[in-house]
Amino acid sequence: MSDTHADLPEPTVEATLPTIVELCKQRGIIFPSSEIYGGFRSTWDYGPLGVELKENVKRQWWRAMVQLRDDIVGLDASILMHPKVWEASGHLANFSDPLVECTRCHKRFRADHLEEAIAAGELASMVCPDCGGALSDPRNFNLMFKTHAGPVDDEGAVVWLRPETAQGMFVDFATIQRTSRKKVPFGIAQMGKSFRNEITPGNFVFRTREFEQMEMEFFVEPGTDEEWHQFWIDERRRWYEDLGIRSENIRVREHEADELSHYAKRTVDLEFYFPDPSMGWSELEGIANRTDFDLKAHEAASGQDLSYFDQAADRRYHPYVIEPAAGATRATLAFLYDAYRVEQAPDADGNLQERVVLKLDPRLAPYQVAVLPLSKKPELSEVSRRVFDLLKVDRMVEYDETQSIGRRYRRQDEIGTPACVTVDFETLEDSAVTVRDRDTMAQERVSIDRLPAYLDERLPRR
Ligand code: GAP
Repeated sequence: MSDTHADLPEPTVEATLPTIVELCKQRGIIFPSSEIYGGFRSTWDYGPLGVELKENVKRQWWRAMVQLRDDIVGLDASILMHPKVWEASGHLANFSDPLVECTRCHKRFRADHLEEAIAAGELASMVCPDCGGALSDPRNFNLMFKTHAGPVDDEGAVVWLRPETAQGMFVDFATIQRTSRKKVPFGIAQMGKSFRNEITPGNFVFRTREFEQMEMEFFVEPGTDEEWHQFWIDERRRWYEDLGIRSENIRVREHEADELSHYAKRTVDLEFYFPDPSMGWSELEGIANRTDFDLKAHEAASGQDLSYFDQAADRRYHPYVIEPAAGATRATLAFLYDAYRVEQAPDADGNLQERVVLKLDPRLAPYQVAVLPLSKKPELSEVSRRVFDLLKVDRMVEYDETQSIGRRYRRQDEIGTPACVTVDFETLEDSAVTVRDRDTMAQERVSIDRLPAYLDERLPRR
């Protein structure tokens, strides 16, 4: 596969996984869940900055997919769905990974991941990567999370946590089409949690058992599906690049026939370059042509008509579906990787110092502005609070009056805040503040009256 990408420019991601994990932990962006109990099986919590960043990723996706288009509508379906949904969709029969177990240490691994590690020269042969023990034959392990609805935990009460958000869009297709009065081609978009009992979660939030997806099912007339598929591949790539992912760090990979999911005619992955050896070029988003598989499967299982009547052509058919399926949590990780830079910058005495800066797009940055009084003196606090109140109605703003101003700038650089507003003693005389730009570190004096307009010109609202 890599041969087909030989002529592409070299990726430029500077961060490695340990640096990102450390930064996230130190700054309270993302850290282990249930940490006071020692953490819990690759589950992660998004702290004050992480929740802002992840919600901004989702907000930008919703804006691009729903707000700015008149042919896509939104949905928030239940995570728990009728168990028959998963029978009809094929997930109960097909949604599995090949699992091998070490006969010595009893650790379990995905057989296909070990095969990839052998192909990449990271593992010599099909033995346990931890202890070198012999491995069992592969057996299929279903990834669906099982639970029970109600007080009785017998087989009749079994329900499943959804492993993808997509099925809500298929099951609700007829209701949404009728009530929204959309005509094919049109789409339904949904963001939310999905659950997969992954055999080998890991690489921080790259692969977890509980994660968030952003999926859109675009219903088209059969015969126009291939063209629409290409449209969405290009569109989705543009979305990542528009939000700051450098074009050399993203690429398109075609699925081989033996990789295709049970429902797909053609699938393309948008891959991001994660420089760590266990990841490399890895899937960021899958864009599949699911044909009419799902609508027909649910029609057969539910007995409800899920076809579409094209009034202009006086014709009834089952639309084909193009599905851009992104991970909100995985995309958040990719944006962090791409934004991470280490630069040389002069300190107050003009000596070059290393500075870590997250060059996040202002639409994604957890805080767009930090208000920093030069000292904790009450007269400065008072005017700084007024500046904070003035800005907070339109943007996420942090108010911080602890530590030296140099350390506070460094912290804001590390969490990607595009603008710092410093209130000093001159402010009391001239009603102006100093605005420092994260990327250029240039400082400009701006009157408080003009500050909202000044920021509006530089920082897009989200
Ligand atoms: N409805 C199609 C579907 O779910 P997928 O390729 O299995 O397709 C779509 O998932 C996206 O969801 C992936 O590209 C990835 O970004 C994210 N994703 C899938 N499994 C994940 C996991 N275990 N942890 C984090 N993100 C995951």
